[in-house]
Amino acid sequence: MKILVTGGAGFIGSHIVDRLIEEGHDVVIVDDLSTGKKKNINKEATFYKCDIQSSRLEKIFQKERPELINHHAAQMDVRKSVTDPAFDAKSNILGLINLLECAVKNGARRIVFASSGGAIYGEQNTFPATETHPAHPLSPYGVSKLSSEHYLYYYQKVCGLEYTSLRYGNVYGPRQDPHGEAGVVAIFTQKLLKGEQPTINGNGMQTRDYVYVKDVVEANMAVMNNKINDTFNIGTGVETTVNQLFKLLLGITESELKEVHGPEKKGEQKRSCLESKKIFKALDWEPGVSLSEGLENTVAYFKGD
Ligand SMILES: NC(=O)c1ccc[n+]([C@@H]2O[C@H](COP(=O)([O-])OP(=O)(O)OC[C@H]3O[C@@H](n4cnc5c(N)ncnc54)[C@H](O)[C@@H]3O)[C@@H](O)[C@H]2O)c1
Repeated sequence: MKILVTGGAGFIGSHIVDRLIEEGHDVVIVDDLSTGKKKNINKEATFYKCDIQSSRLEKIFQKERPELINHHAAQMDVRKSVTDPAFDAKSNILGLINLLECAVKNGARRIVFASSGGAIYGEQNTFPATETHPAHPLSPYGVSKLSSEHYLYYYQKVCGLEYTSLRYGNVYGPRQDPHGEAGVVAIFTQKLLKGEQPTINGNGMQTRDYVYVKDVVEANMAVMNNKINDTFNIGTGVETTVNQLFKLLLGITESELKEVHGPEKKGEQKRSCLESKKIFKALDWEPGVSLSEGLENTVAYFKGD
């Protein structure tokens, strides 16, 4: 089957591409390489360096005529979305609309969308959050992800394009960029391996739901060629503080460094944790990799990078 993966040179998208190719699919990647890397691109995929906002996207669709779309291209830096909300909206909302228009005009059947359970719910009232938890995003990034879900609903109802939105927790694993603002696992791991001191923002009691990239890939595989039009959380249901994460990584990297705290980041969400029973009931997906195993794999990857 021909599948177009946007963001296929990025962290999560490139793992999805690898898995789809393993399954024998014909994969087309659209990525502008703004944060993605050439070395992540699977050689068996057809690659187009292209911004999803560009009018060139239509030509790619006309030529390739993908049946399915897996949409992972996005501006995904929460802090950047706060300093430049228009940039975020252009990439994440206008880019999505361009993609959806191309999909509908060129006969694509279905789209799977990388949404964010960490950003959409805002400060949670209940833990873990189910998909019915009120969605009051506290960043332009969260707003753009929630708006995208509304567009998907609209394009399904009115234009017949099937969709599934996957609301991820904090995804971590090999290939995550350790140089960005996001991705605390990659940032801490790389610093600890180099003997550099990581700084924990604030008191380190902020919690997140860390989900390993391989589990996220399997969730994409479960919904990719399905007919379900729905939204699912993809998390572990386990809350981990930044301090706990730091201690685990200290142990795995055998580092002697100490816990150092810096000022708290203004507006940073305090707690986040997702319940994923809905997708377990519907499609039997559940996370299979524990945090300690996932962190071991991630450290091993960064050691060899
Ligand atoms: N990493 C997480 O914890 C997490 C959590 C929730 C949701 N997500 C979502 O998953 C997706 C992938 O995230 P990631 O962590 O792999 O980040 P990433 O930055 O590694 O991947 C994004 C990819 O999209 C490309 N891209 C960005 N803007 C583009 C544009 N306008 N046109 C074409 N390509 C563009 C980048 O070059 C990059 O390869 C994003 O949509 C992100 O919002 C990630």
